Amino acid sequence: MTNLVLNRRSLVLGGLATFAVPARAAGDGPFTQGVASGDPSRQGFVLWTRLAPDPLAADGLGGMPAPATVTWTVYDDEALEKPVATGQVTTHPDSAHTVHAEVMGLKPDRFYWYRFEALGAQSRPGRARTLPLPGARPSQLRLCFASCSNYEQGYFSAYRHIADEAPDFVMFLGDYIYEGSNKDPKKATVRRHDRVADVRDLPAYRNRYALYHTDPDLQRLRAAATALITWDDHEVQNDYGAYLSQYMRDDVNMPALRQAAYQAFYEAMPLGRRALPHGPHMKLYTGYRFGSLAAIDMLDGRQYRSAAACPNGDARKGHVVTDACTDRVDPHRSMLGFEQEKWLCDRFAKSDATWNLMGQDLLVAAFVQKGKDRDKNPIIGHYTDGWDGYPATRERLLWAMQASRLRNPVMLGGDIHSFWATELRPSPDAPVVATEFVGTSVTSDNPSHQDFADMLPENPHVKYFNARSHGYVSVTVRPDHLETRFQAISDRADPNATVSTEKRFVVENGRPGVVEG
Ligand SMILES: [Fe+2]
Repeated sequence: MTNLVLNRRSLVLGGLATFAVPARAAGDGPFTQGVASGDPSRQGFVLWTRLAPDPLAADGLGGMPAPATVTWTVYDDEALEKPVATGQVTTHPDSAHTVHAEVMGLKPDRFYWYRFEALGAQSRPGRARTLPLPGARPSQLRLCFASCSNYEQGYFSAYRHIADEAPDFVMFLGDYIYEGSNKDPKKATVRRHDRVADVRDLPAYRNRYALYHTDPDLQRLRAAATALITWDDHEVQNDYGAYLSQYMRDDVNMPALRQAAYQAFYEAMPLGRRALPHGPHMKLYTGYRFGSLAAIDMLDGRQYRSAAACPNGDARKGHVVTDACTDRVDPHRSMLGFEQEKWLCDRFAKSDATWNLMGQDLLVAAFVQKGKDRDKNPIIGHYTDGWDGYPATRERLLWAMQASRLRNPVMLGGDIHSFWATELRPSPDAPVVATEFVGTSVTSDNPSHQDFADMLPENPHVKYFNARSHGYVSVTVRPDHLETRFQAISDRADPNATVSTEKRFVVENGRPGVVEG
């Protein structure tokens, strides 16, 4: 819904805001899921909330008996005293009583504040940001990125500390929820998923998001920063690709699973109509522009994949293969799908931004690693579920970056539950074209640090690796350099975990590659 000219009702709301009550706690009234903003433009953003007085109701509809009217108001000031735009949305059970209000007509390059009202209650306030005009020359962009927040494996302190940084934007890079649950009682969990162990249908996907959105740290972050969003596999099923389940057996109806998962994802996220799912399709990838300083492309690494290379027994899920798997390097296969690859290469050709950031779900760099073959013999090879499973896509994109003289490409990723800084070349003897930073998990279990660390001598383009922490990455972009901080929390099992900087890196304008800061 677009903004309306201020009317009497909104002025009354503005007057009441002078006596604003503090943010309401989860469980209080219909706003148990908090608020969020996303999909920023030069004129506005999408404001999100959901009416859910009983957020985990078994039918996935949040305990709402009937549609209701929600009023949103955008304010000029943090005190919520000066309303500048307002509108109304009617919620519907078809979208689980979620609200996606597309606010337009605001000023570029600034923060606004907002709040919802429905059923006699007010939501907590939130803060949202518009993008600068294309010709603007911002002196700085601050963003944080995070991935892999398994509710059962820890508290979301990383999210709380991102909120405290108050960045311009937060990037969610996938595994925002986990569809599976821990079945091994010996395995540590700090809290449990709700009544459905493994999510397979729309009510269960809705309730998995609903559970995560009762978390106070995630609520705080979503209220504090406008989101740029992509997904990875666990929003649907572990290691799925396109319409292929990780299981070779035909007991999973993947189009139906994907349709339910994509709908629940859309409902749960502050995404505009441009990303509305149609059946099992959802165009999530998109580009944003932060004045002359940065282009930010958000990629979709799951929906358009070619089939995984060289499946292992009865499973397509990620595993290590040797060079004997020639399917892996077949140039007719794509990780992003050829349409998305073309879109991205066109973006490269047109971009005149100083920094070209790409948010996506996985480690881009090649990594020669240890694995086991079908008979459990140790092997050395390449992991099939990430970019190493689709090296032709990686090479095409890196060559395209070089051919279009793309300025300062920086890949930002997640999935692998460990911190990485790498340098990317289109071929082993070509110069470094792009720089990569991968964030560790918010909470999800680390892989074996030693297994990866043993292979670092075979992978000299990896400049930093650590799989012993949880946290997020903070990025500050300036015209002359980009700085990243790898932020580690003290203990994922401690709801009050502190944060510290594990490592700091700088990329100089015009010099791709990693320099310790
Ligand atoms: Fe993950």
